[in-house]
Amino acid sequence: METLKCIETRRSIRKYLNKPIEHELIEKLVSEAQNAPTWKNSQTTRFTAVTDRTVLNEICSALPSFNSAVVGQCPLLIAVSAVTKRSGFERDGTPTTILGEAYTYFDCGATVQTFCLAANDFGVGTVILGIFEPAKIRTLLDIPESEDLVVLVACGYTETEAPAPQRRPLYDVLRII
Ligand SMILES: Cc1cc2nc3c(=O)[nH]c(=O)nc-3n(C[C@H](O)[C@H](O)[C@H](O)COP(=O)(O)O)c2cc1C
Repeated sequence: METLKCIETRRSIRKYLNKPIEHELIEKLVSEAQNAPTWKNSQTTRFTAVTDRTVLNEICSALPSFNSAVVGQCPLLIAVSAVTKRSGFERDGTPTTILGEAYTYFDCGATVQTFCLAANDFGVGTVILGIFEPAKIRTLLDIPESEDLVVLVACGYTETEAPAPQRRPLYDVLRII
Protein backbone atom coordinates (compact mmCIF):
# COMPACT_ATOMS: atom_id res chain seq x y z
CA MET A 1 0.00 0.00 0.00
CA GLU A 2 1.21 3.49 -0.72
CA THR A 3 2.61 5.13 2.45
CA LEU A 4 0.22 8.07 2.80
CA LYS A 5 -2.78 5.87 2.02
CA CYS A 6 -1.65 3.46 4.75
CA ILE A 7 -1.30 6.32 7.26
CA GLU A 8 -4.64 7.89 6.31
CA THR A 9 -6.66 4.64 6.30
CA ARG A 10 -5.38 3.31 9.65
CA ARG A 11 -8.23 3.53 12.13
CA SER A 12 -8.90 1.96 15.51
CA ILE A 13 -10.80 -1.20 14.57
CA ARG A 14 -12.86 -2.99 17.22
CA LYS A 15 -14.62 -5.70 15.14
CA TYR A 16 -12.83 -8.57 13.41
CA LEU A 17 -13.50 -11.47 11.08
CA ASN A 18 -13.53 -14.89 12.71
CA LYS A 19 -10.21 -15.81 11.10
CA PRO A 20 -6.94 -16.62 12.86
CA ILE A 21 -3.79 -14.61 12.20
CA GLU A 22 -0.95 -16.82 10.96
CA HIS A 23 2.18 -16.98 13.14
CA GLU A 24 4.23 -15.99 10.06
CA LEU A 25 2.23 -12.77 9.81
CA ILE A 26 2.71 -12.02 13.53
CA GLU A 27 6.46 -12.41 12.98
CA LYS A 28 6.34 -10.17 9.90
CA LEU A 29 4.43 -7.38 11.71
CA VAL A 30 6.75 -7.38 14.72
CA SER A 31 9.78 -7.43 12.45
CA GLU A 32 8.37 -4.41 10.54
CA ALA A 33 7.74 -2.65 13.88
CA GLN A 34 11.45 -3.08 14.61
CA ASN A 35 12.12 -0.54 11.84
CA ALA A 36 10.89 2.21 14.17
CA PRO A 37 13.48 4.72 15.41
CA THR A 38 14.48 4.39 19.07
CA TRP A 39 16.71 6.18 21.56
CA LYS A 40 20.32 5.29 20.62
CA ASN A 41 18.80 2.30 18.80
CA SER A 42 18.02 0.83 22.23
CA GLN A 43 14.94 -1.14 20.97
CA THR A 44 13.34 -1.62 24.37
CA THR A 45 9.79 -2.47 23.23
CA ARG A 46 8.69 -6.10 23.73
CA PHE A 47 5.70 -7.92 22.19
CA THR A 48 3.86 -10.81 23.83
CA ALA A 49 1.46 -12.24 21.24
CA VAL A 50 -1.57 -14.11 22.62
CA THR A 51 -3.70 -16.27 20.32
CA ASP A 52 -4.88 -18.88 22.84
CA ARG A 53 -8.62 -18.31 23.37
CA THR A 54 -8.54 -19.50 27.00
CA VAL A 55 -5.81 -16.97 27.84
CA LEU A 56 -7.61 -14.23 25.87
CA ASN A 57 -10.77 -14.90 27.89
CA GLU A 58 -8.79 -14.68 31.13
CA ILE A 59 -7.37 -11.33 30.01
CA CYS A 60 -10.94 -10.13 29.41
CA SER A 61 -11.58 -10.36 33.15
CA ALA A 62 -8.93 -7.66 33.72
CA LEU A 63 -10.56 -5.22 31.30
CA PRO A 64 -13.46 -2.80 31.52
CA SER A 65 -16.51 -4.04 29.58
CA PHE A 66 -15.92 -1.81 26.53
CA ASN A 67 -12.45 -3.31 26.10
CA SER A 68 -13.37 -6.89 26.99
CA ALA A 69 -16.02 -6.73 24.22
CA VAL A 70 -13.12 -6.16 21.81
CA VAL A 71 -10.71 -8.75 23.23
CA GLY A 72 -13.56 -11.27 23.54
CA GLN A 73 -13.66 -11.55 19.74
CA CYS A 74 -10.13 -10.66 18.58
CA PRO A 75 -8.00 -13.58 17.33
CA LEU A 76 -4.76 -11.92 18.44
CA LEU A 77 -3.84 -9.67 21.33
CA ILE A 78 -0.38 -8.17 21.66
CA ALA A 79 0.73 -7.13 25.13
CA VAL A 80 3.30 -4.40 24.59
CA SER A 81 5.89 -3.90 27.31
CA ALA A 82 9.00 -1.79 27.56
CA VAL A 83 12.31 -2.54 29.24
CA THR A 84 12.79 0.24 31.79
CA LYS A 85 15.82 2.43 32.62
CA ARG A 86 17.54 2.14 29.20
CA SER A 87 15.87 4.43 26.67
CA GLY A 88 16.52 7.98 27.90
CA PHE A 89 19.28 6.93 30.31
CA GLU A 90 23.06 6.89 30.42
CA ARG A 91 24.90 3.60 30.95
CA ASP A 92 25.32 4.47 34.66
CA GLY A 93 21.53 4.75 35.02
CA THR A 94 21.22 8.53 35.21
CA PRO A 95 18.60 10.18 32.98
CA THR A 96 20.24 11.85 29.96
CA THR A 97 17.74 14.71 29.74
CA ILE A 98 15.07 16.24 31.91
CA LEU A 99 12.50 14.00 30.22
CA GLY A 100 14.31 10.85 31.41
CA GLU A 101 12.03 7.83 31.23
CA ALA A 102 9.60 9.55 28.82
CA TYR A 103 11.79 8.34 25.95
CA THR A 104 11.05 4.74 26.89
CA TYR A 105 7.38 5.39 26.16
CA PHE A 106 8.15 7.65 23.19
CA ASP A 107 10.02 4.73 21.56
CA CYS A 108 7.26 2.34 22.50
CA GLY A 109 4.64 4.58 20.84
CA ALA A 110 6.66 4.90 17.63
CA THR A 111 7.15 1.13 17.57
CA VAL A 112 3.47 0.38 18.17
CA GLN A 113 2.38 2.85 15.49
CA THR A 114 4.76 1.18 13.03
CA PHE A 115 3.22 -2.17 13.97
CA CYS A 116 -0.31 -0.81 13.43
CA LEU A 117 0.59 0.67 10.04
CA ALA A 118 2.17 -2.59 8.89
CA ALA A 119 -0.95 -4.44 10.08
CA ASN A 120 -3.16 -2.06 8.08
CA ASP A 121 -1.13 -2.87 4.98
CA PHE A 122 -1.98 -6.56 5.47
CA GLY A 123 -5.72 -5.94 6.03
CA VAL A 124 -5.40 -6.46 9.78
CA GLY A 125 -7.30 -3.97 11.94
CA THR A 126 -5.85 -2.92 15.28
CA VAL A 127 -6.89 -0.95 18.33
CA ILE A 128 -4.55 0.14 21.09
CA LEU A 129 -6.02 -0.48 24.55
CA GLY A 130 -4.64 1.52 27.46
CA ILE A 131 -7.33 0.86 30.06
CA PHE A 132 -6.79 -2.41 31.94
CA GLU A 133 -5.63 -3.82 35.28
CA PRO A 134 -1.91 -4.33 34.67
CA ALA A 135 -1.12 -6.54 37.69
CA LYS A 136 -3.42 -9.38 36.63
CA ILE A 137 -2.28 -9.33 32.99
CA ARG A 138 1.40 -9.17 33.98
CA THR A 139 0.97 -12.31 36.07
CA LEU A 140 -1.04 -14.14 33.42
CA LEU A 141 1.52 -13.42 30.70
CA ASP A 142 4.60 -13.64 32.93
CA ILE A 143 5.88 -10.19 31.94
CA PRO A 144 9.37 -9.75 33.49
CA GLU A 145 9.79 -7.24 36.34
CA SER A 146 12.33 -5.37 34.22
CA GLU A 147 9.52 -4.35 31.83
CA ASP A 148 6.53 -2.02 32.15
CA LEU A 149 3.30 -3.25 30.58
CA VAL A 150 2.35 -0.24 28.46
CA VAL A 151 -0.59 -1.10 26.18
CA LEU A 152 -2.50 -4.03 24.68
CA VAL A 153 -3.14 -4.08 20.94
CA ALA A 154 -6.15 -6.08 19.76
CA CYS A 155 -5.73 -7.29 16.18
CA GLY A 156 -7.77 -9.14 13.58
CA TYR A 157 -8.54 -9.34 9.91
CA THR A 158 -11.33 -6.91 9.23
CA GLU A 159 -13.72 -5.66 6.62
CA THR A 160 -14.85 -2.81 8.87
CA GLU A 161 -14.17 0.69 7.64
CA ALA A 162 -14.42 2.86 10.75
CA PRO A 163 -15.14 6.56 10.21
CA ALA A 164 -12.21 8.87 11.01
CA PRO A 165 -12.72 10.64 14.34
CA GLN A 166 -12.37 14.37 13.83
CA ARG A 167 -8.90 15.87 14.16
CA ARG A 168 -8.13 19.31 15.54
CA PRO A 169 -7.77 22.16 13.06
CA LEU A 170 -4.21 22.07 11.68
CA TYR A 171 -3.13 25.35 13.29
CA ASP A 172 -4.19 24.10 16.73
CA VAL A 173 -1.28 21.68 16.47
CA LEU A 174 1.16 23.44 14.12
CA ARG A 175 3.26 26.54 14.68
CA ILE A 176 5.55 27.70 11.86
CA ILE A 177 8.14 30.26 12.85
C1 LIG B 1 -2.39 5.19 24.34
C2 LIG B 1 -3.75 4.88 23.76
C3 LIG B 1 -4.69 4.25 24.57
C4 LIG B 1 -5.95 3.89 24.04
N1 LIG B 1 -6.83 3.20 24.82
C5 LIG B 1 -8.01 2.77 24.28
C6 LIG B 1 -8.87 1.93 25.03
O1 LIG B 1 -8.59 1.57 26.18
N2 LIG B 1 -10.02 1.51 24.43
C7 LIG B 1 -10.34 1.86 23.14
O2 LIG B 1 -11.39 1.41 22.65
N3 LIG B 1 -9.54 2.67 22.40
C8 LIG B 1 -8.38 3.12 22.93
N4 LIG B 1 -7.51 3.89 22.17
C9 LIG B 1 -7.87 4.23 20.78
C10 LIG B 1 -8.24 5.73 20.64
O3 LIG B 1 -9.51 5.94 21.21
C11 LIG B 1 -8.21 6.12 19.15
O4 LIG B 1 -6.90 5.98 18.67
C12 LIG B 1 -8.67 7.57 18.92
O5 LIG B 1 -10.04 7.72 19.27
C13 LIG B 1 -8.51 8.01 17.47
O6 LIG B 1 -9.18 7.12 16.58
P1 LIG B 1 -8.40 6.40 15.38
O7 LIG B 1 -7.34 5.51 16.01
O8 LIG B 1 -9.45 5.58 14.64
O9 LIG B 1 -7.80 7.43 14.51
C14 LIG B 1 -6.28 4.24 22.68
C15 LIG B 1 -5.30 4.88 21.89
C16 LIG B 1 -4.06 5.17 22.41
C17 LIG B 1 -3.02 5.81 21.50
